[in-house]
Amino acid sequence: DIKGFVFDLDGVITDTSALHSKAWHKTADEVGVTWTTELDNGLKGISRMDSLNMILAAGNKENDYTQAEKEKLADEKNDYYIQLVDAMTAADILPGIQSFLDSLVENHYQISLASASKNAPRVLDKLGLSDYFKKIVNPADLTKGKPDPEIYTKGAELLKLPPEACIGIEDAEAGIDSINAAGETSVGLGDKAILKDADMVFATSRELTLGHIADNME
Ligand code: G6P
Ligand code: MG
Repeated sequence: DIKGFVFDLDGVITDTSALHSKAWHKTADEVGVTWTTELDNGLKGISRMDSLNMILAAGNKENDYTQAEKEKLADEKNDYYIQLVDAMTAADILPGIQSFLDSLVENHYQISLASASKNAPRVLDKLGLSDYFKKIVNPADLTKGKPDPEIYTKGAELLKLPPEACIGIEDAEAGIDSINAAGETSVGLGDKAILKDADMVFATSRELTLGHIADNME
C-alpha cells in the first residue's frame, strides 16, 4: 500500500528547470561550450558542481579550470539563478500541483522532498508551499547524487516508510533511475521517450492526480 510521496522540486513543482537551464546556458557561453538540448536534459537532477563539470566535459575543457575557478563559475551561476528565483510567486506553481498536494494531505499521505537543489527551501518559500514540505532531504548530507538511489532512500526514511510504500515523482531521467534503484514506484512528468524507465508517465502536471496514479498501479 502506498503511504507516502517523495517529490522532486525543479521541473515537478515549478518550472525552475527552465531557470537552471537559462543560468547554465549563460555559463556554457562564457566558457565557450556549445549548448545543446542533449546537454540540457542531461543536467536535470544533477548537483551544481557535477553540472558544471558536465558542461566543461562536453567541450573537453574539464582540465582547463582550477578548483577555485570552477567554484567561482558555480557561484556566479547560482547568483544569477537566485535572482531569477527571487522573482517567483505562487503563480509559478505548475498547474495542478497545489490541488494534488491538497489531495495528499486530505487523504493522509505523507510528503517529503528529494531535490538535489540547495536552493529548495528558498524556492518553496517563494511559492508559498513550505507548509506542505516539513521533511526535506538535505543535499549537503548526500555522498552521491541522482541517479544513485541515496536521495530517494533518504526521502522514504524521513517518512519512516519502506520504499515499497512510496511513490517518487520526477521530471528527469537521472531522477527516475534514482527512484527505481531505491525500490519505490516512479512517476515521470514529461516526455515518455526520455522517461522510458518510469513505472508511469504523465505528459504534464495537470494529469498528476491520485485517480490517474491508481489507474496505472499494477
Ligand atoms: C536540481 C536541478 C538541477 C540543479 C540541482 C542543484 O537537481 O534539477 O538542475 O543543478 O538541483 O541545484 P542548486 O540550486 O543547488 O544549484
Ligand atoms: Mg527535476
